[in-house]
Amino acid sequence: MEIERLKRAAGERAVEFVESGMIVGLGHGSTAIHALRRIAQRLEDQELRNVLGIPTSTRVEADARSLGIPLTTLNEHPVIDVTIDGADEVDGALNLIKGGGGALLREKIVAQATRRQIIVVDETKLSPTLGIRWPLPVEVASFGRVSQERFLESLGACVTLRMGADGSAFRTDQGNEILDCDFGAISNAEQLAARLDGRAGIIDHGLFLGLVSDVIVGTAEGTRHLERHDV
Ligand code: A5P
Repeated sequence: MEIERLKRAAGERAVEFVESGMIVGLGHGSTAIHALRRIAQRLEDQELRNVLGIPTSTRVEADARSLGIPLTTLNEHPVIDVTIDGADEVDGALNLIKGGGGALLREKIVAQATRRQIIVVDETKLSPTLGIRWPLPVEVASFGRVSQERFLESLGACVTLRMGADGSAFRTDQGNEILDCDFGAISNAEQLAARLDGRAGIIDHGLFLGLVSDVIVGTAEGTRHLERHDV
């Protein structure tokens, strides 16, 4: 499938930035998995040595273990050299919406601890304004969840509780729930992020602002490398 080919091209290209001896953040999702597999291949081929990964979800942890990638924790290595992660939407300033896979909290903790955050996407994720292609995931405590729904609606969102495959509410790795919030085009992402950051009961949200240094985009014409200093 064409999109899968673009995701794979982006994921694999990003691994060119991984060097021996690095601590590497391992992102979650169907694009970042290609980077994970490429890291495992380069380790097996001994092109890379002494790389330690920090997974952003229990799912990625299991995948990394099955691929034989040595792992560590953020407590043991609180500064990460490079993280390769996916995104749901990327704007022209390299700000993101993330959390489509539900791993937003650990992804943001890892991103904030990372020197060089590399995002891998196919070209359908590029957007002039965040919010027009993807609802904003907001991770909330179960306690008082309906109160958070009302708060988010008061900010202009159409709110949907994310459901899991078993028909009950989806649970994050932390045991919290996710409210997918359709704000339409988000005209002032910084202001919205500040409102969400200030609300008790909201654990985190999928606005990743000013955290990204590089975006690798898989396009039909090949991969493009966008850098923060370009914007
Ligand atoms: C996980 O919570 C997300 O932030 C993913 O990184 C994002 O949803 C991108 O996933 P895909 O590469 O599968 O589209």
